[in-house]
Amino acid sequence: MTADFFAQLHRAPDVEAPELVAVDATDRLLLDEAAAALALAGPGEVAVVDDSHGALTLGAAALHGATDVRVAQDALVGERALVRNAERTGLTGAYRSAPLAEVGTGARVVLVKAPKALDALREIAELVAAVAAPDVSVFVGGRVKHMTHAMNDVLRESFDDVSATLARQKSRVLVARGPRPGPSSFPRSRQHAELGLTVCAHGAAFAGTRIDLGTRALLRVLADMAPAAGTALDLGCGTGVLAAALASARPELRVLAADQSASAVASARATAAANGLEARIDVVRDDAAETVPDASVDLVVCNPPFHVGAAVVTTAADRLFAAAARVLQPGGELWTVYNSPLRYRPALARLVGPTRVAAQDPRFTVTCSTRRG
Ligand SMILES: C[S@@+](CC[C@H](N)C(=O)[O-])C[C@H]1O[C@@H](n2cnc3c(N)ncnc32)[C@H](O)[C@@H]1O
Repeated sequence: MTADFFAQLHRAPDVEAPELVAVDATDRLLLDEAAAALALAGPGEVAVVDDSHGALTLGAAALHGATDVRVAQDALVGERALVRNAERTGLTGAYRSAPLAEVGTGARVVLVKAPKALDALREIAELVAAVAAPDVSVFVGGRVKHMTHAMNDVLRESFDDVSATLARQKSRVLVARGPRPGPSSFPRSRQHAELGLTVCAHGAAFAGTRIDLGTRALLRVLADMAPAAGTALDLGCGTGVLAAALASARPELRVLAADQSASAVASARATAAANGLEARIDVVRDDAAETVPDASVDLVVCNPPFHVGAAVVTTAADRLFAAAARVLQPGGELWTVYNSPLRYRPALARLVGPTRVAAQDPRFTVTCSTRRG
C-alpha cells in the first residue's frame, strides 16, 4: 500500500533526472516515526514544513488519515509538485497551503523536512513554537550526512526536549517537544556600510545577511550595466541585494525582483523597505520570471543557482538564462556571474546572444550577454 501510494508521486514540474526522486528515505522515516502521533491528531492538527514534492503531506493524509493538513513550502516548485501529486492521487482537498508564520497554529504534529541552513531551521522552530499546541511533537528529518549537533541546539532554543531517533537508510529524525513560545528573530538585518546598503534576511534566504562573493563581483560592475536601461530585473533575487543596489544607484530605473523562494521574496521586500526603496522595487514570487512579460526589460542581473539538491544540475542556471533571454528586449543585457571553472559562456551565447567577459578572476567570471534581435 505504502509503496503503491508513493509510486504515484512525481517531481514535476521540478527537474526530473534518474538520480533525483519524488519520495526519499527521509520522507518515509518521518512518516514512520510520526505514525503514532499522526494517529492521535484531529482535523487541522497536522502541519508540514518544506515538503519536497508532497510525500509528507499526501502520505500523512493517505496513509495515516490526517485531515485538513496545513503545509508551508519555501520552494514554489515544491508547492506546484504537491498540487499535481494531490490531483493525481485525488487528495486535493486534504490539505491547504499556509505561510510559515501560520502553518503551525494549534498543531499537535509537525513534520519538517530539514532545511540546509541552520537559520532556516531556527526560523521554523521559532515560528512553530510560538503558535503550536503545548503538546506538539515536531519531527525534523534529514540525511545523516547533512545533520549536525548544531541542529539539536537550534531546536533546543525553542523546545525543552529534543531527542534523535536511530538512523535508517542514511536518514535520521530529531523530535522536539515542549515548545517555548518567544518572539521571532527574523528577518535579521545587517548594515553594509561599504555599499551603503542594509540587507535583511529570513532564515532560508541565500547567504543570509551576508553578501555572496559572486554578488559582490556583480556589484563592482554595476555602473557599466546597460546605461540607458529603464527597467531592470533581479532574477533569482534572494535577499534583493542587487535590486536594492541598482535602485539606489540609478534613480531612473524601475526595478523588478523575482525569486521562487518564499523566504527570499519576504527578505527582498524587507531589504527594499530597510533602504527606503519599497516604492521603487516590485518583488514577486514566481518561477523563472514567468510573470514578467516577454521583451519587457532592458537589463537582467542574475547570480544563478548551480545546485539542485546534492547534484550539480546545470539546467537550473540554464533555465534562468533562457528566462532572461525571453524577458529582455532585443539589445537588452543580461549580466551574470559564475564560478570561473564552469565556463558558461557558450550556453549564454546560445541562449541569449553575444557574450563578453566583463570581469574575471580565478574564482568568478562576470559576463554581459546582449539579447540578439
Ligand atoms: C545564488 S542565489 C542568488 C541570490 C541573490 N541574487 C544574491 O545575489 O544574493 C540564487 C537565487 O535564485 C533563486 N532561484 C533558483 N531557481 C529559481 C527559479 N527557477 N526561479 C526563480 N528564482 C530561482 C534561488 O531561490 C536563490 O535565491
